[in-house]
This record gives sequence, C-alpha cells and structure tokens, in this order.
Amino acid sequence: SAAKYNMAAEISEGFTSLSIGQMAKAKNPVDFYRQHIAERLAPILNRKDSELVPLLLWATTLDKGDLNLPVAALRVKGKPPQDLAKEIAESFPTSDDTLVTLIANGPFVSFFFKPEHLLKTLIPEILTSKTAYGTNPVSGLKDPSDPSKGQKRVIVEFSSPNIAKEFHAGHLRSTIIGGFLAKLYTIMGWEVIRMNYLGDWGKQYGLLANGFKQFGSQEELDKNSIAHLFQVYVQINKIKSAQDEPINELKKEIKEKKAKGEDVTELEQKLTPLVEESEDEKARKYFKSMEDGDPEALALWQKFRDMSIGKYQKTYARLNIEFDVYSGESQVKAENIKKVLDNLVAKNIAEESDGALLIDFSKFGAKKLNKAIIVRRDGTPLYLTRDLAAILERHDQYHFDKMIYVVADQQNEHVAQLFKTTDISGHKDVAEKCEHISFGMVKGMSTRKGTVKFLDDIIQTVKDTMLETMMKNENKYNALEDPDAVADILAITAIMVQDLTGKVRNGYEFNINQMTAFEGDTGPYLQYAHARLCSIERKANADLSALGSADLSLLQESHAINLARALAQYPDVVLNTLKTREPSTLLTYLFKMAHALSSSYDHLQVVGSEPELQKARLALYEAARQVLWNGMTLLGLTPVQRM
Ligand code: ARG
Repeated sequence: SAAKYNMAAEISEGFTSLSIGQMAKAKNPVDFYRQHIAERLAPILNRKDSELVPLLLWATTLDKGDLNLPVAALRVKGKPPQDLAKEIAESFPTSDDTLVTLIANGPFVSFFFKPEHLLKTLIPEILTSKTAYGTNPVSGLKDPSDPSKGQKRVIVEFSSPNIAKEFHAGHLRSTIIGGFLAKLYTIMGWEVIRMNYLGDWGKQYGLLANGFKQFGSQEELDKNSIAHLFQVYVQINKIKSAQDEPINELKKEIKEKKAKGEDVTELEQKLTPLVEESEDEKARKYFKSMEDGDPEALALWQKFRDMSIGKYQKTYARLNIEFDVYSGESQVKAENIKKVLDNLVAKNIAEESDGALLIDFSKFGAKKLNKAIIVRRDGTPLYLTRDLAAILERHDQYHFDKMIYVVADQQNEHVAQLFKTTDISGHKDVAEKCEHISFGMVKGMSTRKGTVKFLDDIIQTVKDTMLETMMKNENKYNALEDPDAVADILAITAIMVQDLTGKVRNGYEFNINQMTAFEGDTGPYLQYAHARLCSIERKANADLSALGSADLSLLQESHAINLARALAQYPDVVLNTLKTREPSTLLTYLFKMAHALSSSYDHLQVVGSEPELQKARLALYEAARQVLWNGMTLLGLTPVQRM
C-alpha cells in the first residue's frame, strides 16, 4: 500500500508552486489509511480493496472515529449488519498494526488512527504542501480539437448586476456564493470561466443616455460612475413617470370612448404631441438607434458600461473576486436571437398570441412553468429570449462541461423556463449540463441612513460598526499598523461569513451587530483564530523553515492529537463541499477547528515550554494555521495576521 501511495506522490513532485489555481496535487493523508484498511479488510470480506476504499467514510465527530465502514453498504445478505460489524472487528489483524485501532459500533466499524503515525505523516504533509493541502489533481489541459478530453470546464455565471440600477442583496449573495463556487471548482481541478452577465441592454439605457445629456456631469462620472449613473437614472425616471400619468389617462379615455363609438379625434390630437415629446418615446428612439448600430449612441452607452465595469472591478477585488468575462444582455448576438426564435417557431414550440410570440409550457408537460412571452407585440425580444440565445452561444464558444447560474430564487421560474425551452427545442445535451444554484433572499439590508444601494455602501456601513467594535480594545487597536485596512477586511469577512453560514437555499436576516461580533460563529471570530496563531508564532520568534525537524512524538496530549485528527479531515471536507455545493459544509468545519484551537492554548503552551516541545507544538500550530488559511481563502476571505 505504501508503494501505491508514494507513486501518487511522485507524479505530483514537479509541482512546487502552490497557489490556488496552479493545480498542485497534495496528498490526502486519509486516503493512505483508507488504502491500508481496505487491504486488510479485503481477505476478511473476500472483496477487492478497490471496492472497499470508497466505502470508508469520514466521521463528522471525532468520538465516532476517523473512518467508518457502514456495514450495510457491503450488502451481505442474511446477516444483520451489527453481527457482521462484530465479526469484522474480531477478524481484523490488530496485533501488528501500527496505523489503526478499531471497534464495532452498532452497524458500523469505526477506525481510529494511531496518534504517533498520524502526527508524523500528517504534519509534514501539511507543512510542505502548504496552500495545496486539500486541493485535487488535474488531468491536463483541455484539448481544443477534442473538447471531451482532459480537464473539465465549467462556466460559473454570477453577480450579474444591472447598469445604472441598484446593486441589491440578490446581487451581493450571487457574488459571494458564485465567487466561492468558482474557487472550489478551481482547486478541485476544473478549468473555471467566471462570467458576469450584466443587465446592460434595453430601453432603459436610452432613457439613461438622454438623462445624462440633461443632468449628467463628466466629472461626477469619473469620480463615482455607478452612483452618478444611478442618480441620473432616478432623476430622468421621475420625469418620465410624471409624463406617463396624463398619457395613460388619455389613452384610457380614448379606449373607453372608442368602445362607446364616440369620436376621439380631438383626444388623439391632444395625445400625439404628448407622446412624441415624452422621455419614454425619446428613450425608445434612442434605444432603437442603439439596436441599429448608431455609432454615437453606442459610444455613450459603451462609455457607461466600461466605466461601470471599471468601478465594479475595484469593488470585486475587495472581495477577492475577478471575472474572466464581462458578458451581458447587450452581448447576445441579434442573429443568434433570430436563430432561436426561428427554431422555436419551426418546431411549433412558440405560438402567436395577440401579436406577440409566447410559449405555453402546459403543452410540454410543464404546467407549473405557466406561459412566457418571448417576443413583444412591438417585435422586441425579452430577458428570457436573450438568455435562450446566450445559453447556446456559450456552449458553442466555450464547449463547457457544466454551467452554473447563481441566481436568486425569485427567478426560479425564469431559469426553469430557460432550461426547459432549451431542452425541448433540440438541445437536451446543453440543458443537462446546466444547473441553477438558487439562493434565498437577504432580508433587512437597510441601515440607520436608509436602504443601501451599492456594494461599496454596504461594506462601508458594516465597516463603521466594525471600527467601533475594534476601538473598544484600545491597546490592540493602537498596535495595528493600518487599522483602517484591517477594519476593511474584517467588515468584508463579517458580511461574507454571515452569508455563507446557512444553507444556500435559505434566506437570512442581514444583521450588522451580529455579523461584526467577536463572539459566536462570526467572521471576526474566524479571523481571530487565524490572527492568534500568527501571534503565537511571532511571540515565540518561530523559525517556520526549521519545523520540519520537530520531534512530533512529543505531542502526547489529547488536545494535540484531536487537533491533528481534525486537520487530517480537511481534504475530505473539501471533497464533500464539492458534493453538497454548500459553503456551510466547509464553514462549519472551520468553526469546529477554531473551537478546538481555542480550547487547546492552555494545554499546549509554546512560550515557556522546553525548546523541543516548543518546536513540536509550533509545527502543529503552523499546520493548523495553514489549514485555516486554506479554508478561509477558499471561501474568498483574506486571513489577517493581526487584529
Ligand atoms: N441581471 C439580472 C438581475 O439583476 C440577473 C441575471 C441572471 N442571469 C441570467 N442569465 N439571467 O435580475
């Protein structure tokens, strides 16, 4: 078994640069035990070891052992699992085993790693793999001539705000969850394309452009493009709404009179100029010129788009997020929209109704999805129509193996309509590669100053509270070189951790006091766990490069052993997080580790103990710090060294 294990190690030898995305292969120490146990179980059960390896599952609590064999999974007929578990436990050769002990535990056989061996393999493995610990190998780059070969490719579409509109709670969650999924797939060996599908097209951008001509300021635009465009949009929209009122009233009156057979010439004469001069009509005309490719109209729109993206990029960077592609509704090609529509009509999926084109999903066994209009009476396509074209465009361009849409549950019907239509229109293969990660809403994202509208404001509001909390400990605060930068990171951590704590599909209450607290399972608490380990290393003047020679057999205390056992679980936790696609799987583990650490410090002191023991404990702490760091950065956090 050791031979097999080492071979895997050698294959990965070449990779020494270990940052996320560079795809190094680190060993999962638990796999070594899996192999060892499976080889010893094989003759007892008369099964191949390769069949038994996947049946050895990690235990969520350490008192249940380090690996469990659920005996029922062996599917042995005619013998109750409890009895078989006992038999296995009795037959397993333990007298010469330096690696594991075991007990029958009801229908399970529970295996415990022997501390001495665990410590001496695990700790050096973490200390040398560093950021690669918990990551998975890749099978090589994708072959452009044959997309089915090699590394798998996933598009994660997330964040996707609308230009000149609010960045609301839904966009915040999509950004946080999507950023996490992109990192997760990356370290698990996938090629990830991070895509931002902007809401950047439609009549409202005609309205915005006209508004800018009236109220816009180049200076303000340069200063804060997103806030300024929003302000312009609100202003012009007010004017438009005021104009809409009399227009709609006149239209109603005309309709009523017509129905009664009365003469409406006079009313129509009144209506025409009102409509002609309305902002709505001007916006329509402007957008029409954009659609027709008018260079001047497009140049202004392009400027708004570019500047908004520039501003967003800065804010995303604060969250450790970068996009590979800024696509958006504007980028969907007209010819592809036409192709989709022609196909839907030819296949009798879309039908005409009252001048518009719609899909009645009840005719395709999906009554729940109701009806969806895909072309308006005035001939313009809709949000869904663009998505229908975009999904195929992306498949043609990127040959993805998987595509994930991180979109709020308010759009469940929209996304289901998108997938269903794609499926029944002859692209079942594409639809099957797509997945909607649907999340619940954030409630109460408002502050004393009113509702927050932009990502930067959200962060600033939390940061204010964070600074107040930090200042309560004057000594620590004064020791910080750049308290503002620390507050910035802690605020962002607070927001992200609160967001990632619950199940993705559940919503939560945006609670600034709760998320910024240092007690409880909060972002600051997690940061504190990391900062404390850094502080221990600083105070001990630790030479981290010398820890490889530590005598780990000196770690005898149950606190040390249990901490090591928790560290061994990390690669399996990451694997399991990929299965559940739930960030809370990882976060729960990190909090458990933080608790285990804080209860260890009194028992495992560094400063004041013998030099050799000090070194061994530092090796353990540095391994713990590395695992915390790996987990936190996977969640998108920036671990701090002091706070
Ligand atoms: N821009 C949209 C909104 O703010 C979200 C886009 C979601 N993605 C998609 N492919 N439809 O509501």
